[in-house]
Amino acid sequence: MTVHFIGAGPGAPDLLTLRGRDLIAACPVCLYAGSLVPEAILSHCPDNARIVNTAPMDLDAIMAEIEGAHAKGQDIARLHSGDLSVWSAMGEQIRRLDALDIPYTVTPGVPSFSAAAAALGAELTLPGVAQSVILTRTPGRASSMPEGETLKNFAATGATLAIHLSIQNLGTVVADLTPTYGPDCPVAIAFRASWPDEQILRGTLSTIEGALPEGITRTALILVGPALAATDFSESRLYATGYDRRYRPQTADSPWSDWSPSDD
Ligand SMILES: C[S@@+](CC[C@H](N)C(=O)[O-])C[C@H]1O[C@@H](n2cnc3c(N)ncnc32)[C@H](O)[C@@H]1O
Repeated sequence: MTVHFIGAGPGAPDLLTLRGRDLIAACPVCLYAGSLVPEAILSHCPDNARIVNTAPMDLDAIMAEIEGAHAKGQDIARLHSGDLSVWSAMGEQIRRLDALDIPYTVTPGVPSFSAAAAALGAELTLPGVAQSVILTRTPGRASSMPEGETLKNFAATGATLAIHLSIQNLGTVVADLTPTYGPDCPVAIAFRASWPDEQILRGTLSTIEGALPEGITRTALILVGPALAATDFSESRLYATGYDRRYRPQTADSPWSDWSPSDD
């Protein structure tokens, strides 16, 4: 028996990986994390599968479900929204599984920041403008932030910020970032990226609060940074004419001149 953690993606049912879909179809039990996992993904479960929404459950109750399936030798598809590497609560479940000697696998999913960038048609790393993306959040009712992980500190890097779980703190986000990024710094908000009711708002640190419709209180990502609106960035060296590299050696004495694709 194995617990298969599966990233269910940002919302659109066809943004599930093929591996995730096949695992769901092969598991007689499916535990899924609430409303952020679309119903259509659950349709991959086999007929008569036990399908449980874990949103109203605590960790002990979730582990009881897992131990029950373990006793019956039934594999579990454990679905969380987006990817499992960020804000999935997979870490605490894995720690319990390790203690119980229950095997598990992890299948990645499309994270919400990627879906938001796709909806914006934006590359978050542009040459000479931003070469880093910081995935972060602001403190919530149940989660404090480790010392040092402040928006003010992150702003000092000039990177593109992808701020999760924070739409209700938009005022604080604006106040913390404006001194460093400046009031004209571009901001985008992606609400339910890739869902049918997706909404994209664009503005600057000085305008975005006024542009936020009242109904948007959760499931939104705040993207901030100069890369969101830059147009005068340089082209990457990768495709520059005359740039000597493995796939395009430029001269006979290039270090790549005797390399062939089958070498790699
Ligand atoms: C508990 S976290 C889950 C993050 C998820 N594991 C991921 O990979 O993106 C939930 C937060 O992710 C963001 N989020 C999740 N799905 C989203 C979507 N479709 N559009 C915009 N933001 C989303 C929101 O900031 C939301 O508050």
